[in-house]
Amino acid sequence: MKVNLTGPLHSLMEGAVQRARDFEINGETDKAARAYQDAALLATTYSENAVVPQTKQRYLELAQRYRTASVAAKSSRFNDKHKSNDKPGSTDKTSRVRTASPDDQDSLTSQVMSMIDKSDVKWTEIAGLDELRDDIVFRLNLSLARRPPGVRIDEPTGILLYGPPGTGKTLVAAAVSNTVAGTFFKVSAGNILSKWYGESSKLLERLYEVARQMAPSVVFIDEIDKLVCGRGGDNRSDASAQFMGSLLAEMAGLHAKRSECPLVLTIGSTNEPWALDPALLSRFGEQVFIPPPNEQTRRQILELELPRRGFDVPSTDLDEMARLTNGWSGRDLSHLCRAAIQKMLRRANPDLKQVNRPLEDCQAYQLRTLPIRRDEWLGQIKKMPRCGSLDLQPYQTWQQGRA
Ligand SMILES: Nc1ncnc2c1ncn2[C@@H]1O[C@H](COP(=O)(O)OP(=O)(O)OP(=O)(O)O)[C@@H](O)[C@H]1O
Ligand SMILES: [Mg+2]
Repeated sequence: MKVNLTGPLHSLMEGAVQRARDFEINGETDKAARAYQDAALLATTYSENAVVPQTKQRYLELAQRYRTASVAAKSSRFNDKHKSNDKPGSTDKTSRVRTASPDDQDSLTSQVMSMIDKSDVKWTEIAGLDELRDDIVFRLNLSLARRPPGVRIDEPTGILLYGPPGTGKTLVAAAVSNTVAGTFFKVSAGNILSKWYGESSKLLERLYEVARQMAPSVVFIDEIDKLVCGRGGDNRSDASAQFMGSLLAEMAGLHAKRSECPLVLTIGSTNEPWALDPALLSRFGEQVFIPPPNEQTRRQILELELPRRGFDVPSTDLDEMARLTNGWSGRDLSHLCRAAIQKMLRRANPDLKQVNRPLEDCQAYQLRTLPIRRDEWLGQIKKMPRCGSLDLQPYQTWQQGRA
């Protein structure tokens, strides 16, 4: 069986590029050149492993760029350029406004490529959100279907998932990434916000450009409120406004030629929809409230967490657990099940407590499981810290205010 190496290769290549850039910033050009050389080699190997012709081509081009960057790193012109004050920690705003050189473009593309995501979460592992699943899957499939001549369908390009913490918003996105017949990009504050002034906007624009090239695509923006709100400081506010402007433009498809552009669906997720700018909210043609699970859904989640993972619990216990956990989120239930499993495992495998057990002994140990006892989960229900507030009042107030 052929092993798919592209994921690890891409991470290694990214790491090499990051090292090269760090060396550049520190003026260690020889090391930067070597790191670029490594990145080029990894990009070539990636290209050889890729199946899709366009991907092969893209990585061959990246390999060529990294080779060029490696040669450039050795030249004095390169040294001069990078002795400028364009360093982290520089406080002069103008020095941090950068124009997109070819090097920057490479870096942006490579950062965008690292946002491409594929999980192994299946829809069958998600309880109670079938309608949402059908809606998202329908939209994506619709974008691929051939239209009768003369028919133009303007598809809504944004879905906002909002609701209390731990109710399955990110899980839904993970299932989309696993099953979508297209490219899935996962964006979060961690991978798009940059300390460089204006860099996040450029990255976002590049992201949508790549998403259009690789369409149909889904751009999932997790915790979108963290990206566009509450960023203190003058420069930060400017940067935030600029980022917001770019996001609005991209979601409106201003940079896309309608005739050439199949679907790029943006899915945003937030706990605090009221914190979002009204202009941004209006870009999300569909806004779906993901509620805390009701008793039936809680029962399904417990089923997924315990019997479906190979743990034995009487069906009547699952019913009772679902009844006693009114107001709990899916995440709370998941933690509850894990805690009960741990209790049972300790009871079933007391000899694993032995200190200084040799490694081979541990590896050879055959783990035993037993049916989970009622007291093992009931005790946890009473003492478990719950993950987040499931106060629905703010959501109701917000919904009423907009009705
Ligand atoms: N509907 C569900 N079906 C199955 N498991 C669920 C469901 N909802 C939540 N869970 C469990 O809770 C965990 C957390 O869910 P998830 O991360 O999707 O919540 P979220 O809504 O994105 O929360 P946050 O708003 O804090 O980001 C999941 O990994 C899963 O174990
Ligand atoms: Mg989430």
